[in-house]
Amino acid sequence: MLQVKNLNSGYGKLQVLWDISFNVEEGELVTIVGPNGAGKSTLLKTIIGLVKPFSGEIYFKGEKISGLPAYHVARKGVTLAPERGGLFPELTVMENLEVSAHASGNYSKFEETLEMVFNLFPVLKERRKQRAGTLSGGEQRMLTIAYTLMLRPKLLMLDEPSSGLAPTVVSTLFETIKRINAEGITILLTEQNVYDALQMASKALLIEEGRITLEGPKEKFLKDERVRKAYLGA
Ligand SMILES: Nc1ncnc2c1ncn2[C@@H]1O[C@H](COP(=O)(O)OP(=O)(O)O)[C@@H](O)[C@H]1O
Ligand SMILES: [Mg+2]
Repeated sequence: MLQVKNLNSGYGKLQVLWDISFNVEEGELVTIVGPNGAGKSTLLKTIIGLVKPFSGEIYFKGEKISGLPAYHVARKGVTLAPERGGLFPELTVMENLEVSAHASGNYSKFEETLEMVFNLFPVLKERRKQRAGTLSGGEQRMLTIAYTLMLRPKLLMLDEPSSGLAPTVVSTLFETIKRINAEGITILLTEQNVYDALQMASKALLIEEGRITLEGPKEKFLKDERVRKAYLGA
């Protein structure tokens, strides 16, 4: 579904990603792990088109998307829930979801998508008249994901969905991410919460200093001595 080929990317003269190649198959849940500053967010931002690659190609369902602007990529069915921001704090929960549905150009499915989103995040239904900026940190993360789901993505990318959340909220959120995947939406996410993120993944990538240094099924990661020492505290 997603093919990244020999991607080099960064900001101005600063190269962050070096020769990144990997595939994501339809229906998979792929986790990207790695230390702070490794380039995980830059990779997601390059795929969505917010950062222009220096070289290399990105294909979605066989169509080249590298070089396209982000709104164009989003309309093809690839969306990104960023680590922070991405909401209108002065608007209510419901208004945020309406804005997103309009942006998708697919307003006809609004009711149906809204029902799916409220099923996944019942708390957002309860809080639909509350301003986004006054929600708790966990609720704002849920709304950010709900906002991107209103765009009816085929590939949903999540940048550090658990960052800053209490452990109890994190386990609920991870359960919800698994349910979104079970609805047939392919997921590519980055996580610092390496152990839990590996548990729900079908495949993982380790990125260190802008390069993929390990790739494979989660079992390979859980067994890898270096991963265990550096990221699993074993
Ligand atoms: N907008 C930006 N402009 C310049 N450098 C950036 C920008 N965003 C990130 N970087 C740099 O790119 C590198 C990778 O950052 P990032 O992709 O955010 O890593 P990660 O998500 O793995 O923590 C870091 O050195 C960071 O300082
Ligand atoms: Mg990041």
